Amino acid sequence: MQFDLFDSKTNEILDAKNYAEFKKLLAESNCTKCSLSENRKHIVVDRGNPEAKVLMVGEAPGENEDIQAKAFVGRAGQLLDQMMQEAGMDSNRDALIANVVKCRPPENRAPKQEEVDQCFPFLKKQISLIAPEVIVLLGGTALKHLVHNKGEFSMEKEAGKAFTHPDYPGTQFFVLYHPAFILRDPRKKPVMATHLQILKELISRVKS
Ligand code: URA
Repeated sequence: MQFDLFDSKTNEILDAKNYAEFKKLLAESNCTKCSLSENRKHIVVDRGNPEAKVLMVGEAPGENEDIQAKAFVGRAGQLLDQMMQEAGMDSNRDALIANVVKCRPPENRAPKQEEVDQCFPFLKKQISLIAPEVIVLLGGTALKHLVHNKGEFSMEKEAGKAFTHPDYPGTQFFVLYHPAFILRDPRKKPVMATHLQILKELISRVKS
């Protein structure tokens, strides 16, 4: 995939032959394609298992992720790990976890469309190298930017549902509440626990 004829660094990352090469090139690229580069400490590529058949996609790195250069290692990530474990899954073994944008937005605001546009080719490359059977969309930002035919949607209606999309043949999507939402509204935790059971069943079906 060629992105910009004059941006040889981006093209080198997008031409990576395998996931390890892609991750190293992106993490070390000092990318300045959008203004999120101005305040970031690290480019956060992922966390978890690149061999897993499940890719979980969140919004953007937060403060802890920016410091540790790993996705979902702060409070939201810890809650995700705990809830995955309670559902009989291991986030580091059973999934690779990434984000729509790879650099922390100021004050943890949602990424702007122009920032997503600049970063999206990296997520697309990640998806093509991992070839996940299931893409789990963690929250509305991931759903909005990966799937463009939803129009206006409510997470209340989408969470816990699986669907396919013509842009990603052979991949099942599954929507979960973002764990940061559960931190803000713990009453939703039992609902998310039910959704994780549905996800587990979906994963066992696509793997068999
Ligand atoms: N929230 C996200 O969406 N991603 C992270 O990596 C951490 C918190």
